[in-house]
Amino acid sequence: MGALEAYAWEWGSALIRWLHVTAAIAWIGGSFFFMHLDASLRKRAGGDPAIAGTAWQVHGGGFYQMSKYTLAPAAPPEELVWHKWQSYWTWMSGFTLLCWVYYGQSQLFLIDPAVMPLAPWQAAAIGAAALALGWLVYDFLCRSPLGANEPLLGVVGLGYVVAMAWAFTLVFSGRGALIHTGALMATIMTGNVFFVIMPNQRKSLAALVAGKTPDPKWAKTSKTRSTHNNYITLPVLFMMLSNHYPVAFANPKVIPAIVICVIVTGALVRYFYNRWHADHATAPWWAWAVAAAAMICAFVIATTASPGMRALMGLAELPTVVVRADAPEAPPDAVDVVQLRCMMCHAAEPMDWIGEAPKGVLLDTPEHIARFAPAVAMQAVLTHAMPPNNFSGITDEERAVLARWLKLDVAQK
Ligand code: HEC
Repeated sequence: MGALEAYAWEWGSALIRWLHVTAAIAWIGGSFFFMHLDASLRKRAGGDPAIAGTAWQVHGGGFYQMSKYTLAPAAPPEELVWHKWQSYWTWMSGFTLLCWVYYGQSQLFLIDPAVMPLAPWQAAAIGAAALALGWLVYDFLCRSPLGANEPLLGVVGLGYVVAMAWAFTLVFSGRGALIHTGALMATIMTGNVFFVIMPNQRKSLAALVAGKTPDPKWAKTSKTRSTHNNYITLPVLFMMLSNHYPVAFANPKVIPAIVICVIVTGALVRYFYNRWHADHATAPWWAWAVAAAAMICAFVIATTASPGMRALMGLAELPTVVVRADAPEAPPDAVDVVQLRCMMCHAAEPMDWIGEAPKGVLLDTPEHIARFAPAVAMQAVLTHAMPPNNFSGITDEERAVLARWLKLDVAQK
């Protein structure tokens, strides 16, 4: 891989992520705002009977009075702001990022030959198909008789997501499994906007334009799906950030358990706030205690199950590592450099204070080093980000050895 190509991948990743995070902030901000607004609406005496409630707010120096119609105004308003592009852009940029990082560079991040030696196209096809299936099954569950029983739907929905997380661990790396679990839940969220909420809003508006009363069922279904999105938001954010934390995915066997803990915590925190915004006096403070307990569980499970900790506790040998049969090997002089300057951190059993190999990047054997070649090029030759602050004292000559192996034309002193 040429240096320019490596930079282009990395820079592209930075730009897509920038867009993705920005769009997600706009979407989640809007969603939290409207959940809060709905909870804080109060019926005022002597007001317009068509108004369900109003709320006063102050922001940026201005006072706002917001009113919500029980169903709809008598006639369609002249101007109407729709909230949909924040959601669509979040999904489109997120899916692009998934393709860019995980499908475009799947050898690095998605495919773990020890789990399943997939070809890159197979990994991408499984990932994309799972997202589509994720939406179809969720939507089916909501429309089935189960949909009428919210708590039961919640439990079945949780079981479904956890089962998918488990299935992902059977085909992908731990990191890939968690990001796909997050992407699956996020796809459900945008699916709700695209396939349910927006069509319902269009029907309501068309009814108003035709001088008819919109069917209350449309508004109710939309609100239910919007509330689902609200409860899914915090767990999704954790899954999206998890790929920076190998402690969360070091042992794929416990990923389903961690997913349960994260969903319980995230949903309970939203539950607390939704109730709190409606009425401070009856806010369910117990939700914080259960959420904290779930996070402690996640910590204990993840830590005691991680390969490094199990080896420390004498519970297990370090797992044997399976390498692709066709894996290239790094030449001996490059291996020497990496083992001397990188392996203290990037090994299955790194230095004490590292815990797990950072970002799951193992640089212990010639095969592993070869597998992470593009990442080594980016971190140690092109950007000098690694070793961090040159912790291990790598020399320019040693970087030049890596550059020669990686065929990077960088100026060498
Ligand atoms: C002192 C410990 C330490 C040493 C030594 C070290 N690394 Fe790292 N490495 C880290 C940490 C910590 C991270 C995670 C950084 C982050 O989260 O942004 C990391 C991340 C990485 C990544 C993943 C970057 C990403 O964003 O995906 C690669 C690749 C990497 N290191 C390669 C190397 C190479 C090559 C060397 C030797 C030349 C090396 N590291 C030496 C601690 C170390």
